[in-house]
Amino acid sequence: MTGDPHQPPRLHAEGISSNRDLWDAWTTAHVGSDFYDVDGFVADPAARPFDSIVRNVIGDVAGKRVLHLQCHFGLDTIRLALAGAQVTGVDFSAEGIDAARALAGRMGVAARFVHGDVLALPEEIERNSFDLVFTSYGVLGWLPDLRPWAESVATRLAPGGRFAIVELHPFAWVFDEVSEEPPLALRYPYFTREPFVATQQGTYAAPDSDVTGTAYEWMHTFEEILGVLLERGLAIESLREYPLLAWQGFPFMVPADAPGMWRLPEGAGDVPLLFSLTARMPG
Ligand SMILES: C[S@@+](CC[C@H](N)C(=O)[O-])C[C@H]1O[C@@H](n2cnc3c(N)ncnc32)[C@H](O)[C@@H]1O
Repeated sequence: MTGDPHQPPRLHAEGISSNRDLWDAWTTAHVGSDFYDVDGFVADPAARPFDSIVRNVIGDVAGKRVLHLQCHFGLDTIRLALAGAQVTGVDFSAEGIDAARALAGRMGVAARFVHGDVLALPEEIERNSFDLVFTSYGVLGWLPDLRPWAESVATRLAPGGRFAIVELHPFAWVFDEVSEEPPLALRYPYFTREPFVATQQGTYAAPDSDVTGTAYEWMHTFEEILGVLLERGLAIESLREYPLLAWQGFPFMVPADAPGMWRLPEGAGDVPLLFSLTARMPG
């Protein structure tokens, strides 16, 4: 590791504020997108379940108190509620939380949604109370520092509670994501503390939308992700790496055998693209 990953760098407040504006705008585009297919989900949620990687890490949530971090507009939070969890979703986008409440109301699903920053959770999210804290797919890169994030996880888990994450593998960040031609090409540094700042039109889920915004994203190494959880006293119980993504993250990816998953074609690169981790709070 080069440098201290927790050194307070420049651009944190500016980046978080820009990201919040971006996610407010993106949420509106996402609720109506084919990618999220909200009408299809409302019509038949059982036909759009969690993928197998998520199912394996969350286990049976029936009757469990679950905290879902960075819940966007609540699709996965509602999936957790439908699986029997007593669930709270939290997100810093007011648009996301409003849309999540509206969607849960439309479906008649009991789920609590709280507007808040995962780096400093509101006190209404009860401490030492959750059997499972869960987060997935495109979450860590929006956070400038993982230490306060790990603090949020650790302070909300009940003694003996579990943390589960499925996320883009940090190694996948170093490759060129726009090149149309395989193989994967090295483009970005791994050991960097500077945010990637990009002004974008359209989103990963609504590429033709005219929403614009500036995204600040931070690279977090595997050492840092594991380190902050260990530092807060969580015991790692499982760690897996997968040559799969749950979206077409590189233009030349092809559908994988697992439903909803994408893989690299033969010869394009044999590298980890996702990881899953579970950890337990002692007690
Ligand atoms: C890619 S989405 C997560 C996707 C979600 N797992 C899903 O399946 O819909 C990232 C989410 O992180 C939220 N977010 C980013 N930074 C945050 C922060 N500091 N606190 C709370 N939420 C944040 C965004 O508003 C957005 O809803």
